[in-house]
Amino acid sequence: MATERTFSIIKPDATRRNLTGAVNAVFEKNGLRVVAQKRLRMTQEMAETFYGVHRERPFFKDLVSFMTSGPVVVQVLEGENAVAKNRDLMGATNPANAAEGTIRKMFAESIEANSVHGSDSAENAAIEIAYFFAGYEIAP
Ligand code: PPS
Repeated sequence: MATERTFSIIKPDATRRNLTGAVNAVFEKNGLRVVAQKRLRMTQEMAETFYGVHRERPFFKDLVSFMTSGPVVVQVLEGENAVAKNRDLMGATNPANAAEGTIRKMFAESIEANSVHGSDSAENAAIEIAYFFAGYEIAP
């Protein structure tokens, strides 16, 4: 499997509890390299656009409100099989269903405040990376 990139967000519940380094330690211990990273506050417009595919879901308003409630850290992770590896490291969306040792099992507070986002495919990773990063900000 060739080297691949995925997009990650450390969510407001995790930045609030100063867990950026703890989350990055999981990535780094498991062969994912943080090749781009910045901390920012998403605007409502950014969150609505980013999560646009979920616009009709009952939780959409809550999700946008949560994602704009505090700073996030947006990241590009690089490594072998990075998309699937990051999904494995994150664990299930709902921390109640997440496996032992996963980021959500260790850190998430609820299905909403679930600490991390990770792209679900290489195609979406490319779209999500391009939404947040210019090429020069990615330094492998
Ligand atoms: S799906 O069907 O696989 O696309 O959906 P899923 O990955 O489970 O969820 C998509 C994103 O919505 C968040 N989510 C929620 N937010 C608030 N409340 C509820 N009930 C809820 N259920 C799901 C979930 O954390 C996903 O966010 P990201 O940032 O993609 O992880």
